Amino acid sequence: MVTRFAKSQIILHWLTLLMIILTYSAMLLKDWVPEDNIDLIKNLHFNFGLSVFLLMIIRLCLRQLNTVPPITPPLEAMQALGAKVFHWLLYLLFLSLPILGMLALAYGGKEWVLLGWQVPQWVTPDPGMRSLIKETHETLANTGYFIIGAHTLAALYHHYLRGDNTLQRMMPGK
Ligand code: HEM
Ligand code: HEM
Repeated sequence: MVTRFAKSQIILHWLTLLMIILTYSAMLLKDWVPEDNIDLIKNLHFNFGLSVFLLMIIRLCLRQLNTVPPITPPLEAMQALGAKVFHWLLYLLFLSLPILGMLALAYGGKEWVLLGWQVPQWVTPDPGMRSLIKETHETLANTGYFIIGAHTLAALYHHYLRGDNTLQRMMPGK
């Protein structure tokens, strides 16, 4: 019987966490770095953020290919539904944030570099669209802190209070 997520899913889950921490950290550091480094730190934010997009896409594919290991003792129907909805919310949020970020740059007519490649302008700049998309990106990004926080607390609740194997299924091991 499958008792854990596939190794690839476990690695990519924790790698996503790392890339998300780096993405948020870049933005948090932006106001603290010397003026000369602001463009660099923003570009790091854009590149780390896009890696999150890529990781989430790969994870969605792996999810289709692998069996979800059962939780023991099993969850009640409502709890299982809640977990499912929350996981889809995480996928939706961390797929839409990078797209909105890219659109904010494009509508702002901003230059940026993706892994050393200068990204060309691909839409007509529009300041109104830019501020709408940028504000949505920032609001969703700030909600992200609470969503990740709730997801982490749920994992700890399962492990320490409910005493089930939810967290162990996402941990590396034999
Ligand atoms: C997981 C992915 C991402 C997360 C969690 C995220 C999060 C954030 C956060 C927290 C801020 C600052 C919000 C504030 O000041 O209130 C921000 C700003 C921004 N992000 Fe992202 N972001 C992500 C991906 C991206 C990507 C891929 C791009 C573009 C390629 C992007 C472009 C921007 C831009 C243009 C800003 C505004 C920067 C400025 O103030 O000049 N983001 N993002
Ligand atoms: C310390 C932080 C974190 C902990 C302790 C944690 C723990 C877990 C655990 C135990 C599971 C399995 C839950 C289940 O099958 O019911 C899981 C799944 C998941 N986690 Fe996290 N996680 C963390 C951070 C994150 C972050 C930052 C994201 C953002 C993308 C994330 C996205 C997901 C998703 C989408 C799933 C569902 C996997 C699937 O079934 O495809 N996690 N996490």
